[in-house]
Amino acid sequence: MTATATTPKHEVKDISLASQGKQRIEWAGREMPVLRLIQERFSKEKPLAGIRLVACCHVTTETAHLAIALKNGGADALLIASNPLSTQDDVAASLVADYGIPVFAWKGEDNPTYHRHVQIALDHKPNIIIDDGGDVTATLIKERQNQISDIIGTTEETTTGIIRLRAMFNDGVLTFPAMNVNDADTKHFFDNRYGTGQSTLDGIIRATNVLLAGKNVVVAGYGWCGKGVAMRARGLGANVIVTEIDPTKAIEAVMDGFRVMPMSEAAPLGDLFVTVTGNKHVIREEHFAVMKDGAMVANSGHFDIEIDLKALKAKTKEVRQVRNFTQQYRLETGKSVIVLGEGRLINLAAAEGHPSAVMDMSFANQAMACEYLVKNQGKLEPGIHSIPEEVDKEIARLKLHAMGIKIDSLTAEQEKYINSWTMGTE
Ligand code: ADE
Repeated sequence: MTATATTPKHEVKDISLASQGKQRIEWAGREMPVLRLIQERFSKEKPLAGIRLVACCHVTTETAHLAIALKNGGADALLIASNPLSTQDDVAASLVADYGIPVFAWKGEDNPTYHRHVQIALDHKPNIIIDDGGDVTATLIKERQNQISDIIGTTEETTTGIIRLRAMFNDGVLTFPAMNVNDADTKHFFDNRYGTGQSTLDGIIRATNVLLAGKNVVVAGYGWCGKGVAMRARGLGANVIVTEIDPTKAIEAVMDGFRVMPMSEAAPLGDLFVTVTGNKHVIREEHFAVMKDGAMVANSGHFDIEIDLKALKAKTKEVRQVRNFTQQYRLETGKSVIVLGEGRLINLAAAEGHPSAVMDMSFANQAMACEYLVKNQGKLEPGIHSIPEEVDKEIARLKLHAMGIKIDSLTAEQEKYINSWTMGTE
């Protein structure tokens, strides 16, 4: 199908890419059975009828299924990108032309365009905001106080966004409920670990085609994402070094069998560096100065602040584009540092983000969180709310069912035992 008279307002790169996008959206749907069930129920029950909704997400084949579920649930949904480099242009085109969903996003949009799209999203006067990183929520609070009374609540997809929401709450400016999708077990155990693990290495390999076996790979940050990247890099034969600032996570990395050291010691050893910390300038001037010639740096944290590219540029004589998403920075010293994906999320810049099988659970949580906000409108305190345990467990049950895997259930005797404190040593 091509653009019709009912085509909604949009800003996408090329609407003629729609048929390719539709084919890819359908392919992703094969591995999203849980979201499909929710979508089918939403189509019948319309739990989001009359709700104006803005989703600021990576515009991918998986996000397409979330957007379709929300629309089928009755929401007047509009989609913008949560990162200037992560949009899949064919998907954006298909959402507009085939599914009638307004999308304002294209791959490679500049920062002013990105911020203009955030304003367009807020012009939609949302009742619910789905955020990935917190930009729409932060802009609402900073610039659109007059719209806060329209808000039923927000949902947040990622660790970085949750950290921002906590800061908003501590500053007393989070005056509405925000659902913490990231910390649902069926989200971060799978998306952050297996999703980031696979897609980050996928992005690095697509960008460079390097062999990882035998390379020293330095993973900065041993949260769930760092654990996934370290595990998968080891699986490909790399010697993995972990850097951390948290003593407990550092012990975990040691006991998982990785070398742990400060970045100052890892910098001269690494062939490839991957930042997944959520913090800024984790790799900076003093580290670039001691790196091997040809060392590669990539980021898989939400924002492009983890690698201090300004400091690198200041010491650089020439930047050459050597492959897609691969730039060689020739330093004044004669050595080079290779920067992947401009320091932006490498898994979405150079690959396609997390595979659909994990996004199925993440976006099932998002859809259910929106329904929960509507059902509990006016009842939830301002602040950050967990996804209810029964929702999280139901998503896990549906996923297992779809995978054809059965598990045990408690016997009556076991049920009694775990609910009693009187039974100890027999
Ligand atoms: N975040 C990471 N991977 C993603 C994907 N495939 N779609 C949407 N958001 C993502």
